[in-house]
Amino acid sequence: MENKRETFGSRLSVVMAMAGSAIGLGNIWRFPYLAGQYGGAAFILVYALSSFVLALPIFWAESIIGRRGGGNTFGALEKLAPGTRWKSLGLLTVLTPIVLLSYYSVVGGWSVDYLFKACTLSFQGDVQGLFQRFISSPWEPVIMHTVFLSATAAIVILGVKNGIEKFTKLTMPLLFVLIVAIVIFGLTLPGARAGAEYLLKPDFSKINAQTVAIAMGQAFFSLSLGVGTILTYASYVSKKENLFISGMGTALSDFLFALLAGFAVMPAVFSAGIAPHEGAGLVFDTLPYIFSRMQSWVGAVVAILFFMTVLVAALTSSISLLEVGVAYLSEEKGMSRVRATVVLGLVAWVVGILCSLSFGPLSSFKLMGLSLFDFLDNLVATWLMPVGGLLFVIFVGWKMSKDDVRDEFTSGGTCNVRLFNWVYFLMRYLAPVGIAVVFVTTLLN
Ligand code: PFF
Repeated sequence: MENKRETFGSRLSVVMAMAGSAIGLGNIWRFPYLAGQYGGAAFILVYALSSFVLALPIFWAESIIGRRGGGNTFGALEKLAPGTRWKSLGLLTVLTPIVLLSYYSVVGGWSVDYLFKACTLSFQGDVQGLFQRFISSPWEPVIMHTVFLSATAAIVILGVKNGIEKFTKLTMPLLFVLIVAIVIFGLTLPGARAGAEYLLKPDFSKINAQTVAIAMGQAFFSLSLGVGTILTYASYVSKKENLFISGMGTALSDFLFALLAGFAVMPAVFSAGIAPHEGAGLVFDTLPYIFSRMQSWVGAVVAILFFMTVLVAALTSSISLLEVGVAYLSEEKGMSRVRATVVLGLVAWVVGILCSLSFGPLSSFKLMGLSLFDFLDNLVATWLMPVGGLLFVIFVGWKMSKDDVRDEFTSGGTCNVRLFNWVYFLMRYLAPVGIAVVFVTTLLN
C-alpha cells in the first residue's frame, strides 16, 4: 500500500509545494496589516525570531513525523505510536484545516472578485465603501467563495504530482516576479520612502507581550503549522531528501515574501497619506483607494497584477489545506480521491457560506462577542495552530526515540549529522518552552 503513495518529483518540487502552502493570504493580506498595527520594524524583528526559533523547529518536527510515519496525520501518528491517544491529535488536525479552509476560501473569493473588478476597471472612480458593500452583500462573496473553492478542489483532484506539484512549480516563481515588480513600482511613488522606513527602523518600545503573541501566531499561520499540512506534504517527500533544507528553504522564502508584501503595500499606503494601522481592510479597502487615485492605466495594471498575486498565493495554500483531509479519507477510510475531495469541499463550502454571511445578513449572530468569521479565525490561528504545533514538537522531542528522530532528520545518517543536536535541542526544549511561555502570558493578559 505504501508503495502506491505518490511522492514529489524533486527537491525543488518539495520546496515549491511547501512554500506554496506557506506563502498565501497570511503573507499578503495578514502580514502587512499586522506589521502596520503592531509597530512596523519592531514587529518584523519579533516575527523573524518567532519564525526561525519557535516555528521552524515545529516545521522540522512535522516533517519528521510525516515522512517517518509515511501517511496522513492520523495514520502517521498511529504508526509511530500505535494504540496511544496521539492519534486523536491526528483527528484534530484533520478537522482544523477544513475549518481554516472554509473561511480562508471566503477571503480567497474576495481576491477572485477583486481581480475581476480590477480587470473590469471598477477601481477607477469612487471606491469609498466598496469593500463594505461587497462583503456584506449576500450573494457576490458567496459566489466567489464557491468559485475559489471549486478551483482548489479541481487541483487537489488531479493528485499530488499532476495537481499540486505542477501547479506550485508553475506559479511560485511567477509569484516572486509579480511581487518584486509591485515593490519596485511602489518604491517609486512620491513619499514612499516613509513607508519603507517604517518597515526598517525598529521602535523597541512597541514590543510587549501582545506583540510577541501576535507575531508567534502569525509565524505559525504563515508557515502552515500545527494543522498537519506540513506533516502530510512531508509524507510525499522521498527518503533521500534533506529535511533541514526543505524546512529552511520554505521558512526563508516565506519570510522573504512577507517582507516583500510589506514593501509592496506600505510605501503605497504612506504615499497616499494613509495611517499604517488601518487593520484588516488594508489590502481590500485601502489599496483599491490608492489604485483609484493613480493615473488610470497605471492603476489598472498594478491592480490586476496585485490581485492576481493574492489569488495565486491563496490557491497554492488552500490546496494544501484540502489535501490534509483528502489524504486522511482516502488512506484511512478507503474513499476515492475524487469523493474525498467532494465531501470535504462541501463541508468547507457550507461553513464558508456561513462565515461569508457573517459580514452581512448573519452579522448579528455572535459567538463570544465575535462574528462567526472572526471567531473561527481566532480559534484556529490563536489557539488550535499553536497547540497543534506544540503537541507535534512534544511528540518528536519526548515521545519518539532520539535515534529514530536522528535517523529521519539525517536521512539515515547521510546529511545534517552535525546539525542534528542543535535542531534536537530546539525541538525538545526551546520551542516547547517558548510557545508555552507565550501562551501563559497571553492567558494572563
Ligand atoms: N500559510 C498560509 C498563509 O500564510 O496564507 C495559510 C495556511 C495554509 C495555514 C495551510 C495553514 C495551512 F495548513
